[in-house]
Amino acid sequence: MSICYLNGKFLELSEARVSVLDRGFIFGDAVYEVIPAPGGRFFGLDEHLVRLERSLAAVQIAAPMAAEGWSAVLNELLVRNAGGDVAVYLQVTRGVAERDHAFPRDITPTVFAMCKPLPAQQGLARVSAITLPDNRWGRCDIKSTSLLANVLLRNEAVRRGCYEALLVRDGRLTEGAASNVFVVHGGRVRTPPLGPALLAGVTRGLIIDALARAGCEVEEADIEVAELAGADEIWLTSSSRDLVCVATLDQRRIGDGEHYPIAATALAALAAERQRRESAA
Ligand code: PDD
Repeated sequence: MSICYLNGKFLELSEARVSVLDRGFIFGDAVYEVIPAPGGRFFGLDEHLVRLERSLAAVQIAAPMAAEGWSAVLNELLVRNAGGDVAVYLQVTRGVAERDHAFPRDITPTVFAMCKPLPAQQGLARVSAITLPDNRWGRCDIKSTSLLANVLLRNEAVRRGCYEALLVRDGRLTEGAASNVFVVHGGRVRTPPLGPALLAGVTRGLIIDALARAGCEVEEADIEVAELAGADEIWLTSSSRDLVCVATLDQRRIGDGEHYPIAATALAALAAERQRRESAA
């Protein structure tokens, strides 16, 4: 797990160096992806690369390579790290230049990728969460490394003994500090609609499609914060943890605190999709 990729070279993570003038360091002027590779094989690579391209375009960084180039580099990184259950963290910054807020001319983006262990998932994990005001900026659809608000929100959840903060803007749920959210009431499954207020999670999209194939339609619809306490199920989705269930929210039990049948269906549908893609590869 110690080999990383930096600007065209594979090297030991401990030997990788970037300039202190890199705009990723100075301004958080960078975008990123976290791409899961359970068993050393990517799941959802194409979807992650499409989103990377969208983030790069949104912040006006010229794409350092096309999808085939990314795929070759990232697969090589997996091979050099000998597989296992990992996620690849990939970051592209605007590059190195004298500090000035406006874009410098003619700089080369910095490209960095490393592997990190994927947390082991056995069945449905149950976690606690709190609600907090969503005080982030207005372009949460861009997967930017400028994550100070997310960091503070997630840390507040952890400080209060919880796993995640569910974020609320104008009385409505947006997403978690590092996850998307699904809410179930009496068999009706909803997740907040895409837009600038939240990240178009790859896992979110995979689960919506996988559940539809299993005969369960997810509504992409607003969820009022007042509805959360009466939910039968609340789940969080992300590339690093697939799907975890919120058993308590703001110290109140969600559902019976133990059984989350639609979440179990969603997790099974996601596993089936992973299997289908592995067999087709
Ligand atoms: N975070 N929303 C936010 C704010 C996130 O940071 C993430 C993931 C998601 C879920 O997206 P996806 O299913 O594509 O992973 C939603 C990653 C894992 C992270 O920052 O480590």
